[in-house]
Amino acid sequence: MKILVIGNGAREHAICHKLKQSKMVKEIYCAPGNGGISQTVNCIDIKADDLEKITEFSVSNKIDLVVIGPELPLVLGLADILKEKGIKVFGPDKKGAKLEGSKSYSKEFMKKYGIPTAKYEVYTNSHDAKENLNKFNVPVVIKADGLAAGKGVLICQSLEEAKNAIDDIMTEKKFGEAGNTVVIEEFLDGIESSLLCFADGKTLIPMESAKDYKKALDDDKGLNTGGMGCFSPNPVYTDELKRFIKDNILKTTLNGFKNENIDFKGVLFIGLMIKDGEAKVLEYNTRFGDPETEVILPRLKSDLAEIMLKCIDGDLKEEDLQWTDEKCVTVVLASGGYPEKYETGKEITGLEQLDEDIIVFNGGTKNSDEKILTDGGRVLAVTALDDTIENAREKVYKNIERIKFEKMEYRKDIGNM
Ligand SMILES: Nc1ncnc2c1ncn2[C@@H]1O[C@H](COP(=O)(O)OP(=O)(O)O)[C@@H](O)[C@H]1O
Ligand SMILES: [Mg+2]
Repeated sequence: MKILVIGNGAREHAICHKLKQSKMVKEIYCAPGNGGISQTVNCIDIKADDLEKITEFSVSNKIDLVVIGPELPLVLGLADILKEKGIKVFGPDKKGAKLEGSKSYSKEFMKKYGIPTAKYEVYTNSHDAKENLNKFNVPVVIKADGLAAGKGVLICQSLEEAKNAIDDIMTEKKFGEAGNTVVIEEFLDGIESSLLCFADGKTLIPMESAKDYKKALDDDKGLNTGGMGCFSPNPVYTDELKRFIKDNILKTTLNGFKNENIDFKGVLFIGLMIKDGEAKVLEYNTRFGDPETEVILPRLKSDLAEIMLKCIDGDLKEEDLQWTDEKCVTVVLASGGYPEKYETGKEITGLEQLDEDIIVFNGGTKNSDEKILTDGGRVLAVTALDDTIENAREKVYKNIERIKFEKMEYRKDIGNM
């Protein structure tokens, strides 16, 4: 089988790494990939949102399966176009991807199908949005409707702040067209967690759990990032909570898919707020998470290519997913200054000195001559498996000391229990 993976982050590196272990797979391509991914599979110079070139490449190279990593090509309808050409796709159609692409749509979906979520209202003009703010207590959450690369959600501590947020989103268009509509939402407190599920159109089968760290600095201080580290499994997932989620969230979501004719094949990532043994849905993402994927896929014992084909064929069973009991920790090495301004093009050294069982997933890297250079904010995800979280984290941090690039930054508290 020939597979094309779309995307260029550590998530896609983890997907390529896992697919490469499959006996069914003959060749793997990644578009566009990055420096590290090119040492694992063949990278091709096509951007993830260039639907036309991706389609052309897939047809002319007789690709059997396309795995779509990021949200943008999904929301733009890449899966629909490829399927029309008779190519198998792991990732939902435009219709399913709208659950991530439009927050107002996904909230309506949740309300319609009785899926527990925060109370909310949707506005398409800023005057009405501001007039109705007094229906909410503070803190209040203001969300741009469309894709905003994880920056379109503002938690406001006063009504004044909320009014400014509405202006920024709707009038100043800080997030472009994504801010034509806003969702105003009740603030939920609790412990945040995400649950990734494989979806085959008929069922949603949870993967092993993970805990991610979104803030830039230790003790959850500093700015929000794409994720600075992660570990799996996440101890918040008690059997009681798993049952609650199955009965109140997975069943109702599947019912919604059925009623709305959403043939969802791929990964559904459910963002949850957990309190008193119950969970509410913050949002749906319609693809693998980053950095969750970097700790979940290394724990998967089953063949990922086989699972993906079973999802596409509508034939996935719980026993198809076998997991190792080993625990996994990943720590992200970032460019100094991230998530704000940072420099790239710094030489990365020391990778050849790492212990053999360390896996380094590349986020933002590129090759130049014989060197590997930084090429993004989140550069490397340094990953290890071991019998306990403590041992895995110790292994990761010991090996990180051997890796060097100018202005390298990372959190020191990933996996501290
Ligand atoms: N209703 C809410 N109550 C409390 N925190 C929230 C709420 N909605 C979102 N958040 C916080 O904002 C973050 C981003 O919101 P989310 O809906 O996941 O959008 P996105 O990931 O697209 O930016 C969440 O991870 C959570 O920390
Ligand atoms: Mg989110």
